[in-house]
Formats: sequence, structure tokens, C-alpha cells
Amino acid sequence: MIHRKLRTTPAPERAFGWRTPLLSGVFVLALTAALGSNPFTASASALQLHGALHRSETFGIISHRGAAALAPENTLAAMRLAFEQGVDFVEADLHLTADGVPVLMHDPTLDRTTTGAGPVSAHSLEQLRALDAGSWFGRDFAGEPIPTLEEFLDELAPTNSRALIELKGSWSDEQVAGAVDMLRARYLVDRVAFESFELENLERLAVLAPEYARVMLTREWDQPTLDTAAALNVSAIGARSKVFEADLGLVEAARVLGIGTMVYTLNTEQQWRQARSQGIDLVITDDPVALETWRENLSGDV
Ligand code: G3P
Ligand code: CA
Repeated sequence: MIHRKLRTTPAPERAFGWRTPLLSGVFVLALTAALGSNPFTASASALQLHGALHRSETFGIISHRGAAALAPENTLAAMRLAFEQGVDFVEADLHLTADGVPVLMHDPTLDRTTTGAGPVSAHSLEQLRALDAGSWFGRDFAGEPIPTLEEFLDELAPTNSRALIELKGSWSDEQVAGAVDMLRARYLVDRVAFESFELENLERLAVLAPEYARVMLTREWDQPTLDTAAALNVSAIGARSKVFEADLGLVEAARVLGIGTMVYTLNTEQQWRQARSQGIDLVITDDPVALETWRENLSGDV
């Protein structure tokens, strides 16, 4: 297993991003053996999703934390609105409760978006159920609960929407497998991709659920990072614009490898124009309706 995050890895240790050349070679061999040469050959529907993570005429749109401009982020109210808006992907964040249940929350603590306080991971699901995750946003959303992953998937399954689910923090094999089982039970392989900053999570997903597309989030952008993404066989890499701007040539290099690029969180026309000129595949925004209108008006100007 990988024991460090990319951003804390000293450069001299990175041959495939985080290990000595020997260990990297072993890791890549093990991963290749587990995955086959291409994990997407196993499933036409997964291949479809892989394709959706790459631009055609212009970038795809991802609704950040649900329709977070209109409803409290990562609640079912925000997710339902985002499904209605019908953009390319709806993004959600997952933390684990003290009893290991995945719930939709962005922050590691409850303070900003709920009536609770302290770490999410210090509370059981039952304790979280007593909290209000909507009032901070507006009175109309008072009593909105913190949803579980299962509840979110039950809302997603009957729609045509696609979702990008971020695993926050470190997850064990059992915790990753538990989340994957929930997706498999609902046949969501062609509509859900995972993302994470944690390489261990991506590695676990690659081994335990190779049919599911993965997006590697990063705070660094250099050749070793791209090598790591290639070794992990991810469909795309996600980062802030400033991170990619460290080397825009590598955005094209990623594309040549079949790895898309996704930027977050862009809310102005100037940022959207810039992402388009940089060849970015996917844009995460808090205002997907405005971005979709802007994108539609580009027709004939691609
Ligand atoms: O999905 C990428 C992006 O959402 C990561 O940033 O802090 O909004 O989870 P954050
Ligand atoms: Ca996120």
C-alpha cells in the first residue's frame, strides 16, 4: 500500500511518483497483474464513462457538491436539484462516520454546515442523524439531514445523471469494498466515477473495483505526478487551475496518454474561457446552469 500523499512526497524518492524505482516497478507490475493492461476492456459501459471524462468539442461540466449555489451542499436537496439541472456530472464528497458509514460531507468537521461540532469521524451515524445540515444555508432547508452514500445512490439510480464521488481521508479495503458493493448493487458502473487525493484509496479502488473509473486529485503537477496517474490507470486528473498552469504542456501529454484533466472550482466566464483554451476536459463549478448556457453559446465557435 502507498503510505504518503503526493504533496508530502520528497521529489528525490519519486520514480513513479512516490517510491524508489524498484518498489515502483513492483507496484506497477502488481497493479498491471491485477488490472490487466486496460481495466476498461472488461466493460463497455465503463468505457463509456471513461469517454465521458474526456472533452469532445469543449469541456464537460460538473456540478460542485450538488447544486450548491441553490441548496445546502452535499444534501439530497442539492443533489436532486443538480440531477434536474442535467449537467454532465454531479460531484459529492464522502467522509466516514465513527461506525464506518459513508456520508455526504465536505468538511472533516461538522461545524460549518451542520448544527453539530467536531470531527465527522468522531460521531456515529445515529448521532449525525440528529443534526440539521440545511439551516446554515437557509430557513427553507431547515431539518435537511446529512445523507448516507446509500441514500444518495438511491436518488441517483433512477435518474440519467452521472456522479463523481470523492473519497475524503483514508479508507480501508473493507470500507472501499463496502462503498463499491453499494454501487454494484445498483448497476452504476457506467454512471459513477470515484475521485480522491489519497493514492491509497485510488490503489484500493484499482484492485477492488477496476471496472469503476477513477480520477486522481493532486496539488502537484509534474512528470512524476503524471507517471503516478498512468501507473494507477486513472481516467482523469483533477486539480486547481493554478496547479495545471505550472506546466500546461503536461495537460496535452496527459491527453496523449488517454488521461483527462479536470479543474475546480471555476465560476466566472474568464475562468471558463481560460480552461477551454488550456485544453481542459472537465470543469467543476458552483454555477452549472450559467456554465452550460455559456457552453451552448459557443456552438459554431469550437
Ligand atoms: O472534486 C474536486 C474538488 O471538489 C476538490 O475540492 O475541496 O471542493 O472537495 P473540494
Ligand atoms: Ca470534492
